[in-house]
Amino acid sequence: MLFRSWASAVESPWPDVASVADHVGVPHLVVTRHALVREVLADPVTYRPDNALDAVTPMPVTALRVLAGHRFRLPPTLANNSGASHPQIRAIVADALHPTRVAAQRPWLTALVRDRVARLTATLDAGEPVDLYADLAADLPLLVLARLVELPDAPVGAVKEFARAALELFWAPLDADRQLALAAEVGRFHGVLRDFAATGGGLAAELRAAGHPPDVVVGALFFLLVAGQETTSQFLTLLLHRLAGEPAVRAGLRTGEVAVADVVEEGLRLEPPIVTWRRVATADGLLGGQPVPAGTSLVLWLARAGRDPAVVESPDEFRPGQRGSRRHLAFGAGAHRCVGDVLARMEAAVVVAEAAPLLDGVTVVRPPWCPDNLTFRMPDAFVIRRAPETGLTGS
Ligand code: HEM
Repeated sequence: MLFRSWASAVESPWPDVASVADHVGVPHLVVTRHALVREVLADPVTYRPDNALDAVTPMPVTALRVLAGHRFRLPPTLANNSGASHPQIRAIVADALHPTRVAAQRPWLTALVRDRVARLTATLDAGEPVDLYADLAADLPLLVLARLVELPDAPVGAVKEFARAALELFWAPLDADRQLALAAEVGRFHGVLRDFAATGGGLAAELRAAGHPPDVVVGALFFLLVAGQETTSQFLTLLLHRLAGEPAVRAGLRTGEVAVADVVEEGLRLEPPIVTWRRVATADGLLGGQPVPAGTSLVLWLARAGRDPAVVESPDEFRPGQRGSRRHLAFGAGAHRCVGDVLARMEAAVVVAEAAPLLDGVTVVRPPWCPDNLTFRMPDAFVIRRAPETGLTGS
């Protein structure tokens, strides 16, 4: 269940808090209820984020050697930082992602998406399939991020490859050979980041000027390049796939009866790209009546919390604007709540507004497939084609 939690039937009974052993026998306390997940996220003293980036498959010495060979280090900077430096680092990153800066990117992104949608429409009209992951969603968030934050001058494909390798290395069940290959990929790109962190402008320069050591600058860039673009491209893919099966929602979008922003929120609630997030207990305590010994790894099932019937009226139905729709925890909560939420929402709103019409009259050739992973969905493709003859499928 831990590595394919999104595939668990929601109706199936699941305790509020349950101890589940992972593939190497390490127990985790899985927390499912919205109120309990919030309780944990709101208390960074009892439940620290220090384990957020721990590799769920322990690294063998061979992989550690490869990382060490690349001088790989990941000190606490953002998501896994419970120390005194967190608020200051977070404030610098939040400035770079300020809502006014995000809003300024909207016209550029709209023009880009509109252009792509026109080309994809022509391909569909010609009877050819299109992959809405590869041809539309995959690189958009990275392109926007690069306009907001100065990034190393690396090809988009190389950054995507590194980021997906990092998500696999830290959050997937793996064998030793795969770990070795991923460690080589992640370690190599870490070197690129290290060079950039020493000399780069923009956010890197601001972190340096605030007195943060090189490792911290690298750590912040590392996390941003992973969390700041992979998450959103995964979300865009999952949301478009979901919308392909929601013709009434698309019809509402067409007539204006359904608001784009409400579709994005319901998407985050039902198709979050980050399905779980971790915390570690610092002291013996109780959660939902269950003892939590100090040192326990808590797996907060964010996706399940979004479907808690105590919070949302029709938990399993995609009903934009329904009561409780916006109370999802897709972005976490509390001191470490996602600082990219405004950016992710803007990108998703543009894609929904511009690309939803592509889904009318199409048939799904290949739904997204997601590999085993504790936290990230990582869809690999989403292929559609114009439905033959009637053109009514999916409309
Ligand atoms: C749909 C897209 C996204 C989702 C679902 C998402 C989700 C999350 C979650 C669950 C956390 C952990 C929150 C916690 O511990 O309480 C987080 C943290 C974070 N996210 Fe996002 N995220 C998304 C997009 C982005 C983007 C676009 C950026 C930046 C460009 C970003 C940057 C960050 C950062 C820097 C943190 C760490 C914040 C801290 O520890 O202070 N995320 N995100």
